[in-house]
Amino acid sequence: MKIGIGNDHAAVEMKNDVVAYLEEKGYEVVNYGTDTNESCNYPDYGEKVGRAVVSGEVELGILICGTGVGISLAANKVKGVRAVVCSEPYSAKLSRQHNNTNVLAFGARVIGIEMAKMIIDEWLGAEFMGGRHQTRVDMIMAIEDK
Ligand code: RB5
Repeated sequence: MKIGIGNDHAAVEMKNDVVAYLEEKGYEVVNYGTDTNESCNYPDYGEKVGRAVVSGEVELGILICGTGVGISLAANKVKGVRAVVCSEPYSAKLSRQHNNTNVLAFGARVIGIEMAKMIIDEWLGAEFMGGRHQTRVDMIMAIEDK
């Protein structure tokens, strides 16, 4: 599976650790930056990864900024993105099973790398359950066209 990853200056070190973790697990990772600690604007990276997911360039996206909030808000503005910010694994798992999230975000200033790994494992390991959840996800996506 191909996973796109993006981050701002607050999360370069955590991004590098996450990339290494994903590659070790056999995932192909496409890095959309940033790769320096120079202050940058997280919306650029949220949008880049969001567009990569929606276009099919990558299957899923992972975003990291200081809190995970700003970068996920930016990604959610791309039509077709369902991004979730998680600080614990339970919501990450349920966000896949019930909400069919296609982008996961977390904060490098909020959680440590071991929690990030647990969150990623639960998120990538879960499958969308469809059925009544499909109806609700369809309702969410329909809002984009109103
Ligand atoms: C950057 O200082 C910080 O605002 C950003 O990383 C993120 O936390 C925004 O939501």
